[in-house]
Amino acid sequence: MTLYAIAVFLHVVGALGLFAGIALEQTSLANLRLATTTAQVRPWVALLGGLRRVDGPSGLVLLATGLYMVATRWGHQAWIGLALLGMVLMAVLSVALTGRRANAIKKIVPAEDGPIPPPLRARLSDPVLQTSASLRAALGLGIVFNMTVKPATAGAIGAMGVALALGAAVAAVWWMGSRQAQSDGIAVA
Ligand code: HEM
Repeated sequence: MTLYAIAVFLHVVGALGLFAGIALEQTSLANLRLATTTAQVRPWVALLGGLRRVDGPSGLVLLATGLYMVATRWGHQAWIGLALLGMVLMAVLSVALTGRRANAIKKIVPAEDGPIPPPLRARLSDPVLQTSASLRAALGLGIVFNMTVKPATAGAIGAMGVALALGAAVAAVWWMGSRQAQSDGIAVA
């Protein structure tokens, strides 16, 4: 057993952590949309706001082990540069879009239990939350494709492009659903 093999193992553990975070985010978003009382909102918004405790350490493990593998074996490769770029983009989306909105939701959840007031309902159905989640899931999948296939520059860029296009397509469906719900005068379920 080599140190490099341990680094690959820890790197994959970091990737598992990242995708566990993505799955938990999708679960909390779905439950927030389905919630009918403020009591149902509280635990899911707490989970959504606390996801950085899963994403952060996973990202750090990915980065530390990834840099070690690059330094000891791989050197400069397009698929590695794109992974770094993708990770930065994922972090920006997470902090700027999801984190801020989760904190804003937390602040307006009434202390007492009861039906969900319309301003809170509007924030729970905010399509930006789903857009951020879909784009990050797609970026993560694109990175895993590049990490496993290790294509040349054009292929690596193409893979990230396809991933982003898929993420954007899923997000577009959410925006259309949200617009439709608004014009029908109901919240997206
Ligand atoms: C979201 C971020 C990332 C994810 C999900 C991810 C995931 C993975 C996975 C699953 C593998 C195993 C592939 C295989 O064994 O066939 C891998 C390999 C690798 N990753 Fe990443 N990775 C990420 C970011 C990074 C970063 C930022 C770097 C470099 C700084 C990096 C460097 C590497 C290297 C060099 C390998 C090749 C290991 C080998 O085959 O010997 N990764 N990655």
